Amino acid sequence: MKLEHYPHHPWKIIEEGWNPDNVEASESIFSLGNGAMGQRANFEEHYSGPTFQGSYVGGVYYPDKTKVGWWKNGYPEYFAKVLNAPNWIGIDLKINGVVFDLNTVKAVKAYRRELDMQNGLYTRAFTAELENGLELSLESQRFLSLARPELGVIQYSITANQEVNVEISPYVDAGISNQDSNWDDQFWAIDAVEAQAAQAYIEAQTLKTAFSVGTFMASSLFEAQEALALEGAAFQTDKKAGTTYQHQLAAGKTLSLLKLGGYVSSRKHEKTALKAAAQTVLDDAKNLSFSALLAEQNEAWAAVWKSADITIEGDVKAQQAIRFNIFQLNQTYTGEDAGLNIGPKGFTGEKYGGSTYWDTEAYCIPFYMATKNQKVARNLLTYRYLQLDRAIENAGKLGFTKGAALYPMVTMNGEECHNEWEITFEEIHRNSAIAFAIFNYTRYTGDLSYISEMGLEVLIGISRFWAQRASFSAAKNQYVILGVTGPNEYENNVNNNWYTNYSAQWCLRYTAEQIEQLRSTAPEEAARIEAKTNFSEAELEQWNKTAEQMYLPEDAALGVVLQQDGFLDKEMVKVADLDPKERPINQHWSWDRILRSPYIKQADVLQGMYFFEDQFDLDTLERNFDFYEPFTVHESSLSPCVHAIMASKLNKNEQAYAFYLRTSRLDLDDYNAEVEEGLHITSMAGTWMSIVEGFAGMRVIDGQLSFEPNLPEAWEGLSFKINFRDTIYTLQLTQGRFCCTVDNEADCSVVVRGEKHRFTGSIELSV
Ligand code: BGC
Repeated sequence: MKLEHYPHHPWKIIEEGWNPDNVEASESIFSLGNGAMGQRANFEEHYSGPTFQGSYVGGVYYPDKTKVGWWKNGYPEYFAKVLNAPNWIGIDLKINGVVFDLNTVKAVKAYRRELDMQNGLYTRAFTAELENGLELSLESQRFLSLARPELGVIQYSITANQEVNVEISPYVDAGISNQDSNWDDQFWAIDAVEAQAAQAYIEAQTLKTAFSVGTFMASSLFEAQEALALEGAAFQTDKKAGTTYQHQLAAGKTLSLLKLGGYVSSRKHEKTALKAAAQTVLDDAKNLSFSALLAEQNEAWAAVWKSADITIEGDVKAQQAIRFNIFQLNQTYTGEDAGLNIGPKGFTGEKYGGSTYWDTEAYCIPFYMATKNQKVARNLLTYRYLQLDRAIENAGKLGFTKGAALYPMVTMNGEECHNEWEITFEEIHRNSAIAFAIFNYTRYTGDLSYISEMGLEVLIGISRFWAQRASFSAAKNQYVILGVTGPNEYENNVNNNWYTNYSAQWCLRYTAEQIEQLRSTAPEEAARIEAKTNFSEAELEQWNKTAEQMYLPEDAALGVVLQQDGFLDKEMVKVADLDPKERPINQHWSWDRILRSPYIKQADVLQGMYFFEDQFDLDTLERNFDFYEPFTVHESSLSPCVHAIMASKLNKNEQAYAFYLRTSRLDLDDYNAEVEEGLHITSMAGTWMSIVEGFAGMRVIDGQLSFEPNLPEAWEGLSFKINFRDTIYTLQLTQGRFCCTVDNEADCSVVVRGEKHRFTGSIELSV
């Protein structure tokens, strides 16, 4: 797909012109979701060209048996996949008895897709030329209701320039498969297929995990907005059920099909009551018109935007991009279901199947914490607390004891799903991100109760793991952490990855502090947790000793920390000197060549300096940034946002802006040449951070909101809202001006460029 395929618009994503080569990319870009379910932007009607079909139900997964070339002890038995679910959007169409298929028509004109991010309405329209001068215009409008999480709505309208016979058959279909399947297993067993008059229902069950999902639909037809009293003929096969309508459509008249559909699942309903639940969803909506349902949708999205929108004046490209990121994050996770999490591809593809990665804690929590009620971020932390026993079991499988916890690299239910030894066993830094998120949440919200109610147990498990995983090197007289993979996955099995060692040291110290703190503020609580976890004073001493003597590789001459032992032995050719035709290197080079190279997939040392920036002076941050950035290829979506934030902090404004565009338009402009696989949802929260923490320079320091604004030159203004400790702050920044308004009359204060200002209502300053 060519760069800038989708024209710049503040609220819309638009595609104009038919090109079958773009179908799969646009299926990703125009994906819809409402937190409970989601789908790629597949066509409703039959399409024989290349397409990647995908409909997903949040939290419904299948444990696909692990397939590896060489089994290693400790590998998980399965990889949990949120899988392609039965399809409710399908509409078969025959015109004068011939199946309509965009891939085989004579010509396609005025093809247009449009996604309105203000309300999540997706529209596809075109005119297709068929035989004998017949032209058929089709418009399909679709949305997944935010107000009714089990309901989706389609209005499908057909107009022809000649009188035609239309046979239109809306259906539900369980004859689907996953592209990604280890053993070509069957993932679903179909329990019921039913069609009656204008309704159809399929109940299917995931094999092994036994989630039952009811896929349902109801349909009605209109001509010129008037309901048609057409009797449809119900049909069903062993996998598919629907209704077929026949209609003689006069030239120039428009026939519209209103299709309501969606999913009910056993995650929310008793299995025996699923069908009734589907009927209730339909009954509640059946008397509402498309416009009435859309009005609810407008309202629900308006409420989201009210607290989450960011406006940028003077740069439509940047404006569109941030809204696309915020929109997708809200389509993926609404925070209402504590059993769900944020998958790296959300509901837009199959890659990364499982739902939860370290991405949630390292990237997503700040976004949800600031744009929603703080209980949403707490839910995300609670999710990990509820999986602590599994993390302890997981560490146990690898030989760790006494309550040491290793959280999985990838999980649905707390069990590890990842199965490449260099990541599963070695990319252990994920534990630190979970501890960091507890710290980050507490720092931001001031809510100390999470630590005593849940967090401290998590921290103890994580610190126990680090204390056991670090080993003492007699040669160095220090603790080392051997055989790891840092965030930069283009290095495997290295010794003393600085980020891992530093963050482990930080975890040990932070946990020790939290224990001491609780002992002094709530001794009974501390005693309860210590008894529950069998905590001993000897452990505390060991943690302090390990932290104190942790080895942190550095190069004194360069004045930088070392990504890992031996990093400087590599042939240090900068990325700028690589042949652009060889990039992305992960699509052109052998793995062996990548591993020997100095190229950094994603922020690694800089990830650590971003998390723990207050531990480093500006010169140190700058030396490390200047050293590592030129070797970073940013082939993980999670990378450019961290570099954007650091570049802003270091006043490297042009670089910061370039990284911002890269993170925010990663999918729209397909920087990593893979958008057809799905969108990079978790890094979209990093995009939000690169504006709020980058250009606005927001931090929480000593319980105070603090800002160091540094807007890109082209931006005339930036405004955003954040929910900080139950007060909504509206920030309006222009070049040289800072304005902050709050939604109450309480005394407030903000720190701007290091100076504290008290105010009530609002404050405006020159900066
Ligand atoms: C990154 C990981 C990340 C995963 C899911 C990988 O490419 O290297 O850090 O957790 O994608 O986003």
